[in-house]
Amino acid sequence: MEKEWKIYNPDGKKRVVVTKELPGNTWLEVLKNSDCRVEVCQSGEIVDNKKILSAIGDKCNGVIGQLTENWNEELFRALKNAGGVVYSNYAVGYDNVNVDAASKQGIAVGNTPGVLTETTAEMAVALTYAVARRVVEADDFMRHGKYGGWLPDLFLGNRLWRQTVGVIGAGRIGSAYARMMVQGEHMDLVYYDIYQNRQLEKDIKAFARFLESHGEEPVKIIRAESIEDVLRAADVLSLHPVLNDKTYHLITSKELAMMKENAILINVSRGAVIDEADLVEHCQNNPDFRAGLDVFEDEPEMQPGLPDLENATIVPHIASATRWTREGMAVLAASNIAGILNEYPAWESEDISPFLGENRPKAAPSIINAQADRVPAYSG
Ligand code: DGY
Repeated sequence: MEKEWKIYNPDGKKRVVVTKELPGNTWLEVLKNSDCRVEVCQSGEIVDNKKILSAIGDKCNGVIGQLTENWNEELFRALKNAGGVVYSNYAVGYDNVNVDAASKQGIAVGNTPGVLTETTAEMAVALTYAVARRVVEADDFMRHGKYGGWLPDLFLGNRLWRQTVGVIGAGRIGSAYARMMVQGEHMDLVYYDIYQNRQLEKDIKAFARFLESHGEEPVKIIRAESIEDVLRAADVLSLHPVLNDKTYHLITSKELAMMKENAILINVSRGAVIDEADLVEHCQNNPDFRAGLDVFEDEPEMQPGLPDLENATIVPHIASATRWTREGMAVLAASNIAGILNEYPAWESEDISPFLGENRPKAAPSIINAQADRVPAYSG
């Protein structure tokens, strides 16, 4: 093992590889208490598949990996051959994981939902305000000594109050964002999702009744029949779909052209949901259109022209970056590994909070392929 790998609990019987140092200590305790020897890569760089293969070696029972890695058939075959039965992504999204290939090898695949929901939605909200009120441009203006005194038309932005917010993908994060914008800014909501989000609709309607009962105009919620309906109606559009074949380049120049000229586009989901080259061109040609991006099509690269756009605010995939969330993600990922290695049942939990406390359930909290034909189990 190379020097850049740090080993915890060297006498542990089960070998677990972790491809990046994770925040907090609880996750490590979870693994140590399950008799795991834990080997953690110390390099701050993205670990490529060659290095992962060599880290798996000929004995590896489980791996915690990152969304920056390509967990393909080759890696899962190697993991299986090394005695591996479980892999957990340190992320809620798992578009970097070939889950079918893992299931074929009888390997359980975990992710870390629940702890990111509000945190990620908050970043979408933060970007929405930053973009609407041109916070980053104005900050840069101040730092460059350009402020010569108050002016009536300095950095005019967009008012959000009582406008229309569009959401594509109203799952956990999308609906948390929608609630924040509707309840905070009394915006009308237009959402598109293949599934009706009854709870979200119920909550927004209850809020509308509350406003009405106080003599205020109620907010509206519409489940749009098509993405086009959302594009046309939204003053602010936030994207929250999972990335798959259907949502790859969901937003291209065609969709951007349907949006209002001064609309705001927010993306904290996955970069490839937008054709980034088309977005750059659209922002260049439409200075009143603004974008707030946490994710990029070819991370860590950006499309040429994107960093030069004044009408785009860009942050480095930090939507889930609060200490509480990142430590929680580590505990969930470790609990996925420990749960399967302890032969506990594989859950797809709706409520992950019990796993964050002292008395963790005897289960693997979030196993995506728990229903797959070959239920993974560790034996020795
Ligand atoms: C995830 O978990 O999928 C997020 O993108 C990480 O910030």
